[in-house]
Amino acid sequence: MTTQEFLGKKEFTIHTQTVSESCPSNIALIKYWGKYENQIPANPSISYTLNHCKTNTSMEFIADETFSVQTFLSGNEEVKFAEKIEKYFKNIEPYLPWILKGKYIIRTENTFPHSSGIASSASGFGAIAKCLMKLDEIFTGEITEEHSLKKASFLARLGSGSACRSLYNGLVVWGTSDEVAGSSDLYAVKYPDSEIHEIFRDFNDWVLLIHEGQKSVSSTVGHGLMKTNPYAERRFQEARENFVPMKEILKSGDLHQFIKLVEHEALTLHAMMMMSDPAFILMKTGTLEVINKIWDFRKETGLPLFFTLDAGANVHLLFPSDNSKEKITTFIERELLLHTQKNGVVKDIMKF
Ligand code: DP6
Repeated sequence: MTTQEFLGKKEFTIHTQTVSESCPSNIALIKYWGKYENQIPANPSISYTLNHCKTNTSMEFIADETFSVQTFLSGNEEVKFAEKIEKYFKNIEPYLPWILKGKYIIRTENTFPHSSGIASSASGFGAIAKCLMKLDEIFTGEITEEHSLKKASFLARLGSGSACRSLYNGLVVWGTSDEVAGSSDLYAVKYPDSEIHEIFRDFNDWVLLIHEGQKSVSSTVGHGLMKTNPYAERRFQEARENFVPMKEILKSGDLHQFIKLVEHEALTLHAMMMMSDPAFILMKTGTLEVINKIWDFRKETGLPLFFTLDAGANVHLLFPSDNSKEKITTFIERELLLHTQKNGVVKDIMKF
């Protein structure tokens, strides 16, 4: 299946060229878990784009050589990743007709630790898609910035679904939702800043590294398990429905309802994995201990510290940058860090 809007220009002039781009990771509030053919999401999702956790990528295109891809992650050659990228490039040829007419050397570096529960596939494919659009602009001529970003998001999605949300800052929606004008299953759109209360425009995401090993289920396998999960349709429906309160919450700044919804989404994602066949429990003891401590802390202090989870054991601690921040960070340092493997925490912000 090809998508007319993004088909590539047939006329192009290629030459050897190196481009570099950087792209942040993102953390979903309403989660994408379950997809159809061609990377079409089973439900819409919304995420915060992080400010600091990024992938920096340089892409050397050597024109007129036999198509091949070589990749280096922090200087070390990664053969498996190169194979994945080769497959990806072949898949997106209709959209970039010059793409197989040369050899690539891709060097990539993350500003955050590997296997930290921060999606490196999101920032990684985001950065690759941006590099490709830069080359496309050079080889095919003028292209508007708006179209370039939209097409980069479209291309990133074909590499990794959540990557398409990393192309924009702030809050970003991917997947068709009646609640979000212009939303699409094919690419992400920026959630309008004017519809977001100021409390949500300066937020913290501190990722507690509870378990730094490899995940026991890849997201590809995880999404696949939703095909036979008896609760899947209800879950997809619930995610769609959750956009209704989310929209109101974002506008009004109702932190209490925000916390309830975001934590519910995280727990639902893990509940889906527990109800899959085979079942997966990706939380570790430390994950549960941290969640219980957060709940106790909120009960005792009423302060807005809460969590979300990705498909792993690490906990994303979320809290606003208001006058509660100091008490919250003191609590994290004193009470929550001891549940990490090596005092591991990645401190990021979402400010826009
Ligand atoms: C739990 O985007 O990694 O982080 O499309 O197969 O590459 P693929 O999956 P991926 O899935 C992310 C799932 C999630 C939730 C989310 O980011 O919305």
